[in-house]
Amino acid sequence: MSLPVLTLGTAAADFVSGLERLHGPVTVVRRCTELAEMLAAAQSGLARAAIVAGQTQDLDGGVVERLHSAEVSVVALTDDDGERRRLEGLGIRTGAESVEPEALAALVAESAAQLQGLGAPAQAAGSGTQRLVGLADPARALQPRDADPVPPGLPAAQGELVAVWGPAGAPGRTTVAVNLAAEFAAAGQRALLVDADTYGASVAAFLGLLDESAALAHACRMADQGVLDREAFERVCLKVAVTGTTLRVLTGITRVDRWTELRPAALATVLELARGVADVVVVDCGFSLEHDEELSFDSMAPRRNGATLRVLELADRVVAVGSADAVGLPRLVRALDELEHAVPSASAEVVLNKVRSAAVGARPEAQLREAWERFGPVREIRALLPADPAAADAALLGGSVLLESAPNSALRHAIAGLAGSQLQAPRRGLRRRALAKVKF
Ligand SMILES: Nc1ncnc2c1ncn2[C@@H]1O[C@H](COP(=O)(O)OP(=O)(O)O)[C@@H](O)[C@H]1O
Ligand SMILES: [Mg+2]
Repeated sequence: MSLPVLTLGTAAADFVSGLERLHGPVTVVRRCTELAEMLAAAQSGLARAAIVAGQTQDLDGGVVERLHSAEVSVVALTDDDGERRRLEGLGIRTGAESVEPEALAALVAESAAQLQGLGAPAQAAGSGTQRLVGLADPARALQPRDADPVPPGLPAAQGELVAVWGPAGAPGRTTVAVNLAAEFAAAGQRALLVDADTYGASVAAFLGLLDESAALAHACRMADQGVLDREAFERVCLKVAVTGTTLRVLTGITRVDRWTELRPAALATVLELARGVADVVVVDCGFSLEHDEELSFDSMAPRRNGATLRVLELADRVVAVGSADAVGLPRLVRALDELEHAVPSASAEVVLNKVRSAAVGARPEAQLREAWERFGPVREIRALLPADPAAADAALLGGSVLLESAPNSALRHAIAGLAGSQLQAPRRGLRRRALAKVKF
């Protein structure tokens, strides 16, 4: 069967006639004049591969992801060595602009076969039948899938990825993430802190950084363009001194409407690199796991919660932070339930923060454990962090970490305890309970 292909680029005329003369393995079904036209044609299911000649600079990680989601592989023709390396870094097959038609047809066939072998979304979604899941069934398209392949040339992953996540309502995700990372650094680990919260990035503010750079968005952009290597990664990271050692930081987006810059596939590449240069990578996540994009019936649309979901899929540890009060606890229970559905591979460590008797009565720790035992999921509470407004405020005011501004505070000690042990809670199923019953 002949492979239907799309073409784009000024040089297209030359090779199209060459391919047509082969009367064989590939058939040019549309010669596109611009990228938007090619993307639209790809989404309509017209083709299995796309050949881009000359105008390859428009090919970035986002474009490749969209084409691959539509099960269209990409071959790029360029005579520029630097551009060829960039494209290959994005996982694109390349050839010279003067490539012979037979060789080009072979490249196209290989790229299509490779895309199939990688498990295009149709297979990844788990159905045995071939279909365009991304277009026909947005809900399935939003199911977690395997991490994007790491472009060649990246270092092997080593560092542990710790996602700090939790429901809405400011339970203290950033407080825990920042101080956890600081404790790891102080313990002699190469630590990297990443702000991937697409709703309220605040790591820069916590660390007193006058940061307009949105380092994480910058790194994602470079990953998208295929130019993020180890050296570039080191340059993008901010360095913060913490008690004589260095904490590397990728600050978050400076305005919430910039969330589209944290494309999940690019973020995955950044995190993979991060693991190659750090012993532990702590990621401050957004709260929402909602798949509200399902309603849009546009599976190609950027996903606001895609960044959070991808981090949770990739994480070795998920620290789930909830507020220890009558509002925060039911929210955490519900959020853990959502997590179980959205990212079944994640095993969350429950951390209750801002523990105080004023909110739950005398002996707050015992009260909380008892309430969790009765109404919470079958998952032990990993840590209870005391409410310590004086320490928390002093740290914020000074733009410093608790380790420096309140080293003897109970809150700092509790977070240090969380950093100090190997927290791999055994994975157990959730017991479903009606949230209405969760009361103190
Ligand atoms: N254990 C705690 N005791 C007192 N205040 C806290 C504690 N943890 C966090 N806070 C404060 O709560 C507010 C929200 O914390 P933050 O970490 O920004 O939450 P999130 O990242 O979940 O939105 C901040 O003012 C922070 O200083
Ligand atoms: Mg936060």
